[in-house]
Amino acid sequence: MSVDPTVTIDFFINGVPCTAHDGETVIQAARRAGVSIPHFCWHPNLSVPGNCRICMVEVESDNGDPWFDIGCNMPVTAGMRVLTESETVKKLRRDTMQFITLNHPVDCGICNKSGECLLQDYHYEHNGRPSLSIDRKNHATKFYALSDRIMLDNERCIMCTRCVRFTNEVSKTHALGAVHRGDHSLIRPAENADFNEDVYSDNVIDICPVGALLSRENLDHARVWYTKATPSVCPGCSRGCSIDVWHRKPEWALKALDPALNARIERVTPRENPEVNGPWICNKGRDLAKIWERPRATTALVGGTPAGLDEAVERASAIVAAASRGVVLVSSWGSNEELAALHHVLQDKLASRFTARVKADHAPQPGELLEDDILIMADKNPNRRGALALFTPLEGDLPAALVGADVVLVWGEGVADADLPSTARVVRLGSYAHEAALRADVFLPISIQTERNGHYTNAQGVVTAFKACFEPKGDVVHAEGLFQALAGNRKALQRVLAGAVS
Ligand code: SF4
Ligand code: SF4
Ligand code: FES
Repeated sequence: MSVDPTVTIDFFINGVPCTAHDGETVIQAARRAGVSIPHFCWHPNLSVPGNCRICMVEVESDNGDPWFDIGCNMPVTAGMRVLTESETVKKLRRDTMQFITLNHPVDCGICNKSGECLLQDYHYEHNGRPSLSIDRKNHATKFYALSDRIMLDNERCIMCTRCVRFTNEVSKTHALGAVHRGDHSLIRPAENADFNEDVYSDNVIDICPVGALLSRENLDHARVWYTKATPSVCPGCSRGCSIDVWHRKPEWALKALDPALNARIERVTPRENPEVNGPWICNKGRDLAKIWERPRATTALVGGTPAGLDEAVERASAIVAAASRGVVLVSSWGSNEELAALHHVLQDKLASRFTARVKADHAPQPGELLEDDILIMADKNPNRRGALALFTPLEGDLPAALVGADVVLVWGEGVADADLPSTARVVRLGSYAHEAALRADVFLPISIQTERNGHYTNAQGVVTAFKACFEPKGDVVHAEGLFQALAGNRKALQRVLAGAVS
């Protein structure tokens, strides 16, 4: 049933007057009113199967005979008086919890979902009793490979069917289904589909209300309560989905084990953003560690030889000062703040001698889905729109654009040495270990997204913030401060040197 927010309906929840939008169900209206009704099978972005019954509510009637129904499938009507915490409702919930856990192993101690599991939360909130059953529980496969990325613990599944509906309604791969009946039901890949080909498959890990669907990549990495989520933006394409980057809390830093684990990305999950990605992201967003955790460049180089940061910045600014036809190749992975800093320096100090062109730092990888009508966009750079708001795009091929240049300042990735004029002096600002750094006249190591705060503007014009998760290491500095120093600003140079780690 569609919801019409322009038509409102007055009703009551637990005696408090509330307003629903026409077409809303009790659970939807209650959520907007800040009243939580437990739910397993219901998900705000999926259809309503009404199969778990945990959302049962009481509706008072004028003749004194209340009636009971599931709040996720009951439309609000004018004057309706809903009770979500009556004694009868509480008893029904307890009984439903007993039923749902009849065959559930309750192995929270070894479950990756522990700490963020609806079944665990609702047990403490709405049940609190051990199982009353004296029957032996059904057993099923504990590790069933649903795909190369996802494992299914059949015993923990409560058959809410959220995962099945996700593949039918959101990713539209129809890759999952249920086989067998009753308490022998199992989630299985559909016969004519391959769940490996669902590029949104990992969303089922988040929406599974229990620990039945787990990431094989992140299995047993870290308990959720040892980690925290830092809000960020996926740089995987110009959609710029909102994400949470999960990493170890400083107060739970590992001391005896490899300290590198304290700066590891434990997982990436979607952060709901109705303007951009809703509650979903694609699997490339889940795999950002593959991009961000590539070997880093943390040392400044002059002529391919390690040098002090102060010497390297001095040499680079001397090259910039001597340029008569310089070109800056602008990163489309730079933040709006960094782009503004570069723009200011070019306007203020270098306008007569330098031009700037926006390049693509990343191109689609072989085999990567180019675009679709869900989220994925063809441009694999997160902030080209932000860059194009200040600079002109690179048209045609790179060598043609650089004819006559005597200095090229390359910010970020995506530029091969072969594309640079052999007669030009080259200053590179980069983050990852690459042989191109060795061949530049000066290489300066700069921070990556997980080490700084900033904003990106996505292809639709939505501006989203990202926050730092980790401290930069070695000589790594922020590009935002570096541009002023490269233009010969001594105070900016002192600030850059003071801000560098080593
Ligand atoms: S695997 Fe999870 S999401 Fe799928 S039906 Fe079972 S409990 Fe629900
Ligand atoms: S659609 Fe693009 S921005 Fe969103 S998660 Fe996938 S790669 Fe990242
Ligand atoms: S949440 Fe309503 S029946 Fe499952």
